[in-house]
Amino acid sequence: MFKSSWSSPSNIAVIKYWGKYGLQLPRNPSLSFTLSASVSQTTVTCIPNIGKSNHVNIEFYLDKEPNEKFGSRISKWLDTLTVEFPFLKDYTLHIETSNTFPHSSGIASSASGLSALALCLCDLQEQISGIVVEKLEFYKRASMIARLGSGSASRSVFPFMSEWGFSPDVLSSSDEYAIAIEPSDVFKTYHDAILIVNPKEKSVSSSVGHSLMEGNPFAEARYKQANDHLALLLNAMDKSDVHAFGKLAEQEALTLHALMMCSDPSFILMKGNTLLMIDKIRSFRKDTSIPAYFTLDAGPNVHLLYPQEYSSEVHQFIETELRSLCHDGFIIWDKVGSGPSRL
Ligand code: DP6
Repeated sequence: MFKSSWSSPSNIAVIKYWGKYGLQLPRNPSLSFTLSASVSQTTVTCIPNIGKSNHVNIEFYLDKEPNEKFGSRISKWLDTLTVEFPFLKDYTLHIETSNTFPHSSGIASSASGLSALALCLCDLQEQISGIVVEKLEFYKRASMIARLGSGSASRSVFPFMSEWGFSPDVLSSSDEYAIAIEPSDVFKTYHDAILIVNPKEKSVSSSVGHSLMEGNPFAEARYKQANDHLALLLNAMDKSDVHAFGKLAEQEALTLHALMMCSDPSFILMKGNTLLMIDKIRSFRKDTSIPAYFTLDAGPNVHLLYPQEYSSEVHQFIETELRSLCHDGFIIWDKVGSGPSRL
């Protein structure tokens, strides 16, 4: 029996991926922070099949309970990977996964969960074939495999920051896999306080949201804007300009939600408290000049991004002004992390 265990983090995009085509290819490049507290831990054990099977057989457990919903999504993804991983037809995969963040947080587990599983698959391939690939190649492949499961998962396998999608401004960038981005020091210790406004699963899935970009009248302008924002953001990071960085992060977040609002059918994922928090964050920044800026993913929760050196002032602000707007006062104190690890 072969076995592999990996821990892999979630990530929060600063430049957003919104719009895809073909085999999980992005309409524009995106860039994210790799997180450290929000991770999935996954163990895959390969049990030999008697004879070959046309489908990949799996037994999927989330927090020690069989889980039909995630299990069937994973099954479909694995069925597309049998050319990459011929061993998938020879074994039943017993998959055990758990997340450090609660299911009821509204934080998607697909980026961390699918990247952890992609790492396990690449590792098992090495164990079974006896062919060990070089480290950079290993992570590149894991990123590509993760992308096929969920686009944003491709960005979870690298430390600090990661970029996915071809951009003329990023050397070695590709639509097929993400790459590591080494930011200047201030960004390596950034904090992300995840303020949970509503823990319910979102009403419109990311996949549906991506597909609605195909008919969106602003799509082409958006894809150009994402490329322009990426170039500006990289420039701001080179200069360690945290205000220029934060301003772009907020523009990206609001553009993402504006795109949802002008899709057909339109949808709104922000809630009243999302807007109240945004107002308070902007007032706090105006009053203090502290570079605390928000971003949003495809949901109502607010990610407050700030440099480590301001953490005590920002924590005090969160406690006095924002915690009461969170669902049951729920906050995940996350920060930039060093990427996945073998367990
Ligand atoms: C708003 O990666 O969840 O979080 O590829 O269909 O699985 P699929 O979509 P997903 O989309 C993430 C969208 C986003 C922005 C981002 O993470 O870049």
